[in-house]
Amino acid sequence: MEVLILPTPEEVGRVAADRITSVVRAKPGAVLGLATGSSPQAIYAELARRVRDGSLDLALTRAFALDEYVGLPVDHPQSYAAVIARDVVGPLGMDPQRVRVPDGLSEDVERTTAEYELAIARAGGIDIQLLGIGANGHIGFNEPTSSLASRTRIKTLAPQTRADNARFFASLDEVPMHCITQGLGTILDARELLLVAQGEGKADAVAHAVEGPVSSMWPASALQLHPHATVILDEPAASRLALADYYRYTAAHKPPAS
Ligand code: GLP
Repeated sequence: MEVLILPTPEEVGRVAADRITSVVRAKPGAVLGLATGSSPQAIYAELARRVRDGSLDLALTRAFALDEYVGLPVDHPQSYAAVIARDVVGPLGMDPQRVRVPDGLSEDVERTTAEYELAIARAGGIDIQLLGIGANGHIGFNEPTSSLASRTRIKTLAPQTRADNARFFASLDEVPMHCITQGLGTILDARELLLVAQGEGKADAVAHAVEGPVSSMWPASALQLHPHATVILDEPAASRLALADYYRYTAAHKPPAS
């Protein structure tokens, strides 16, 4: 995988936005994989700036969100449907009809999750999947011990994830216990993966993901199985990488483009 270590969280956002921009310029109807949480916010802000100044048009893109809480009312401001509508679809000028989030209120979860997989396949697969990483190494909501071959399904959130996400809710009790998430196998099917992490709180998870053995104990280590994965980090998030200097060296001496 390619590891880029950048001086500031803003630079992380800018370089990741460059990747997405080049995918969309090459294919205006590209299928984007969207992530929620604080990590991708700088990317969305940068993409929104480019849309506003007319240098980028995302109106024809399609998108699938990684995950959703189970049981939150549709109008709950922290449902990922609401977050994606507010923070992504609106500011990025995307067509709401072309953006899907798993239905966390479904009464037939088996069918809903199977249909979500089918919808991704019918769209031609995800061209570029954006990912944050949880402090426990989760991607999407694939908590530790998630099968590396898993598909979209219902999961129980780990206590650490509920505690981490309690900052978005009035209290820990309000954080849902369950979620629907794309599986690790679903994520690995995307043509390109782009994981971003900022801050020291992610340093351990990043080190396991990039340099640890591939293990369901650290779900993000599944990225090592993907032929086109890029990890973009600020300095604190990269602080526990044994080979940080090597990644800086390879980034400065890329092989010529073919
Ligand atoms: C959340 C999301 C993930 C996200 C991660 C990190 O719970 N389900 O998709 O990547 O946890 O969140 P943050 O970026 O806010 O640290």
